[in-house]
Amino acid sequence: MTDRPPAAPPPLSLVGVAKSFGMVNALQGVSLELRAGEIHALCGENGAGKSTLVKTIAGVHRPDEGRIEVDGAPTEFASPADAQRAGVAVIYQEPTLFPDLSVAENIFMGRQPLSRGRRIDRTAMYAATDRLFARLGVRIAPERPARGLSIADQQLVEIAKAMSFDARVLIMDEPTAALSGTEVERLFSVARSLRDQGAAVLFISHRFDEVFALCDRITVMRDGRYISTDPVAELTVDTVVRRMVGREVNTLFPKQDTERGEVLLEVDGLTRAGVFSDVGFDVRAGEIVALAGLVGAGRSEVVRAVFGIDRYDFGTVRVAGAALPQGRPAAAMAAGIALVPEDRRQQGLVMEMSIERNATLTRRSALSRFGLLSRRSEEKAAEVWADRLQLKAGHLTDAVSTLSGGNQQKVVLAKWLATRPRVLIVDEPTRGIDVGTKAEVHRLLSHLAGEGLAVLMVSSELPEVLGMADRVLVMHEGRITAELPRGEATEESVMYAATGHKEVA
Ligand SMILES: Nc1ncnc2c1ncn2[C@@H]1O[C@H](COP(=O)(O)OP(=O)(O)OP(=O)(O)O)[C@@H](O)[C@H]1O
Ligand SMILES: [Mg+2]
Repeated sequence: MTDRPPAAPPPLSLVGVAKSFGMVNALQGVSLELRAGEIHALCGENGAGKSTLVKTIAGVHRPDEGRIEVDGAPTEFASPADAQRAGVAVIYQEPTLFPDLSVAENIFMGRQPLSRGRRIDRTAMYAATDRLFARLGVRIAPERPARGLSIADQQLVEIAKAMSFDARVLIMDEPTAALSGTEVERLFSVARSLRDQGAAVLFISHRFDEVFALCDRITVMRDGRYISTDPVAELTVDTVVRRMVGREVNTLFPKQDTERGEVLLEVDGLTRAGVFSDVGFDVRAGEIVALAGLVGAGRSEVVRAVFGIDRYDFGTVRVAGAALPQGRPAAAMAAGIALVPEDRRQQGLVMEMSIERNATLTRRSALSRFGLLSRRSEEKAAEVWADRLQLKAGHLTDAVSTLSGGNQQKVVLAKWLATRPRVLIVDEPTRGIDVGTKAEVHRLLSHLAGEGLAVLMVSSELPEVLGMADRVLVMHEGRITAELPRGEATEESVMYAATGHKEVA
């Protein structure tokens, strides 16, 4: 690179930072500069060390070696509060709100405005919260508890909190994974305006379209090591992927043709007032059917109702011809349905339990056929899936909480795949999963369909929908607006229906 050195020292830099967890070298000799007035992307596979780097900058972890510099001066952050005081704000991969506190209390925790009597001035706090949300262009009631907020709203609260610090360094670790198109646009415009005001922004995402649309420079990491930093204009997606993975990869694995069998899942007239209406479709053995649409179209709500997590007002669900009672996930599982939920951290994993126990949690009855659950069979089942999903972990006996975000998601997938279902419902199966493993998950789904499973896939990623689905159902505002067979599903036809237009003539 030939650009001249910046006049002032960068607001934040890392110099030779190393960090290990036991045997895992999460960071090794990483040096990096975040400049004022840039949006800087950090790319790397699941487990490459991105979140560890973020937590080191944020004062959550202390580096084993090397140092952090603020405005060119070596600095030690003893705690996250220290980092915050230095103007570093972080939006973490996992939302960190306190569910029982109000939205406003979460934002102003430890710095609540006080009234004369040194009591917390709620009126002032709520007004300040309203002003932050107004800047973001959203409306969330400041006094409501954080519990029950959608993931998107939780992220927005985190962003409002970061903005309330007037951060000079804003770090966003996969902030967009659960946001809709308009919410992503809003977030990007906030990031751009912070940049234009001179902040340094670090952005982490597994979505290359976002990285290339938003960022000025891209740093690639692999296996805890720094690989490269370049201006976006000098890079292509292929170059970045090759540096991340260290080899060539197929970025998409198209579904193979399979024999269609009997109808395994049949949904008819499913209606829940105000949420979805008259939803009907079927999925045959050997088939992958995608539920496409924009975030908020009601797709997750439909599959939750099918599986029995949520109730519905009208309609029927049948599995292999037999009616399924509503509101009973246990009955759905007994009938052979598995659901890999969208919000895996809340619904999918027991964080403090080991990886292998999580991975085999749902098939314990099968493994313990002879009375005692043999440790060996548990290890074996876990190893098989860990291997197929390229799980990056220290030991399978470690707690799931020690895994990187993407690797936690692989454990949830493993757990449900191990149940050997007849009908597999996956909600955003590759969210947060890196480019190399994505292809592996696609290969796996295709393989399972080939074995006679019926697969229903909710996905917001168009390439995934177009590459994987035999049929695409498009939802808009709670209704199915189009059904497109493989040959007719294109980016245009799916988007057309997803934005509320009736079936293309
Ligand atoms: N608290 C911890 N204890 C033990 N190991 C950890 C801990 N935190 C992270 N690791 C390990 O460090 C490595 C890097 O993890 P990190 O979370 O930084 O990855 P990442 O690049 O953010 O991946 P992803 O894209 O999946 O979010 C992984 O092997 C992970 O298992
Ligand atoms: Mg991470």
